[in-house]
Amino acid sequence: MSKVTGNVKGIKNIILAELEQLYDMTTPATQVLTEDMAMLMLDISARCEREVAVYINRRGIVSDVLIGDADTVKLSSVNSRRSEHKLCGLRCIHTHPRGDSRLSDLDISALRRMRYDCMVSLSRDTEGAVQGSIACINDSSAGNQEIALKNEMTLEDLLNINISKLIESIEKQLSHIENGYDLQKKAEKAILIALDQGNKTDWSVENSLEELKQLADTAGAEVVCKVCQKKERPDAALYVGRGKLDEVRNLIQQYDVDMVVFDDELSPAQQRNVENFLGIKVLDRTALILDIFAQRARTHEGKLQVSLAQMQYNLPRIMGQGLVLSRLGGGIGTRGPGETKLETDRRYLRDRINDIKKELEQVKKVRQIHRRQRESSGILQVSLVGYTNAGKSTLLNTLTQTASQVYVANQLFATLDPTTRAFKMPNQQDILLTDTVGFIQKLPHQLVAAFRATLEEVVWADLLLHVVDVSHPLYKEQVRSVNSVLSDLGAWENKKIITVYNKLDLQEDKELLSELAKEADTVLVSAKTGEGFAQLSDLIERKLQMLHRQVVLLVPYDKAAILGQIHDEAAAVLEVEYLPEGTKIIARVSENLYVKVIQYIVNQE
Ligand code: GTP
Repeated sequence: MSKVTGNVKGIKNIILAELEQLYDMTTPATQVLTEDMAMLMLDISARCEREVAVYINRRGIVSDVLIGDADTVKLSSVNSRRSEHKLCGLRCIHTHPRGDSRLSDLDISALRRMRYDCMVSLSRDTEGAVQGSIACINDSSAGNQEIALKNEMTLEDLLNINISKLIESIEKQLSHIENGYDLQKKAEKAILIALDQGNKTDWSVENSLEELKQLADTAGAEVVCKVCQKKERPDAALYVGRGKLDEVRNLIQQYDVDMVVFDDELSPAQQRNVENFLGIKVLDRTALILDIFAQRARTHEGKLQVSLAQMQYNLPRIMGQGLVLSRLGGGIGTRGPGETKLETDRRYLRDRINDIKKELEQVKKVRQIHRRQRESSGILQVSLVGYTNAGKSTLLNTLTQTASQVYVANQLFATLDPTTRAFKMPNQQDILLTDTVGFIQKLPHQLVAAFRATLEEVVWADLLLHVVDVSHPLYKEQVRSVNSVLSDLGAWENKKIITVYNKLDLQEDKELLSELAKEADTVLVSAKTGEGFAQLSDLIERKLQMLHRQVVLLVPYDKAAILGQIHDEAAAVLEVEYLPEGTKIIARVSENLYVKVIQYIVNQE
């Protein structure tokens, strides 16, 4: 009979006998432990107020049972360690009798040192419900073992983890590292999945899948095939039908696929169910876009905004095995802005979300101050908006003749952070030209919310240049989708918009071009060749002149009430002088304000 070891001093024989029963218990190889084991361990641990630990091998057999004191149990030195690039073949499961299942620093350092398959702690909360936490070595590259950690799960979620798959995935990754093979550099193979709900618009499921493919390419994946299912409504549990997923499972084996990407946002439950079903990483369109944004964010504010969107997206998804598995897969969908990896601890995430929101509020205040300074300088603000890849950055570069300063690439979302350049119009008027983030179909709402501060710049701009890739077969759909985001932002009303049909050089349909040229407030250009730029500058100048006139006002002192309104509503107050006959003001005023102050105008442009 195997003996219970550890701090057995003072423990009654009857308890030792109960502990020995753990040696007779087994767990399926795929399951971390069984419910019976968990209950027995917690029960004994509560009665003797000491930690209880068991070690289970890969066949699900208990190899050691130990008892410790109230806070620690001396974890056994495992002799079966095989290689620096493998785990030790045993999982360590222990209780925390004080009612907090979170793994301690000591637990984590034992996990690193002993290279356990995983480290699990169990406890009961104040209501008596069983909670569990699990940690695994995530990545041993760069010498420091990273840990994937999930705290405070329900027992059900813990039991649902497919531990053998998890271990297999870790060891696969470790062996890649051993072979000097950098997983991040190898394109991850992906299958794209979409639902055809019989939508009759031009934006067909094929178009949507094609755009998803571009997104996947941009994220660095290699798309091996696209799968589409005709179905009126998504399946509540699996998004597509079970039969379709069986088909996908075969394709995964056939092509040795690393992940599947769904063309719509999956609910957290759907994502988890599909991950359980397929046993590989499951992403959706939103996660993919967030991943690309994470790679593109350059400024501090951009990084904060992307982190916030990613955390808000991940918070409801940190359940069950889903995220643990995907963390271990690494790569696309797990990358945060800069060098960081996505956080997976729920409590930490909540705290960080609050901190980032506060930080963004500060950034917003600074932005407001800058905006006021800009407004009072009298320089008008023009913003470039448009679908991703429409050519906004190229246009900004060519217009301002400082090519190569803004990153231009034939990739989606090449520009993430807004870039503002001062620019002199041919009539010598200074304007500020801002490039903004590209829009896309099904832009994740987390991103619109997170980027609201940046996109608000669009709302405040005096004039919008809506850049459209006229060579794109679906340019009309793209225009519609940009307009809908603009209207969500409230940037639509009272806004002067010029539609800039770009990539003229790539569109051979002259009839279409001459039709477009007839539309009001439009101009056809090629940002690449400079064709159409004279007309564009001319139209911008005309629009800006219509927007604001520079006037010199003399307001008598007994009419001072209007001064407040002028200060509040003028696009810019350029000069104020107190003269004997009244207040002299030089200001740039809109049509609305012009009508109100007309009797005080002594001079105007
Ligand atoms: P995001 O950053 O994704 O929002 O893209 P963007 O709208 O800023 O597009 P960008 O300026 O990065 O251009 C996308 C691609 O289109 C690049 O490969 C450009 O070289 C190309 N491009 C832009 N304008 C023109 C044009 O007028 N003609 C041609 N032939 N190519 C163009």
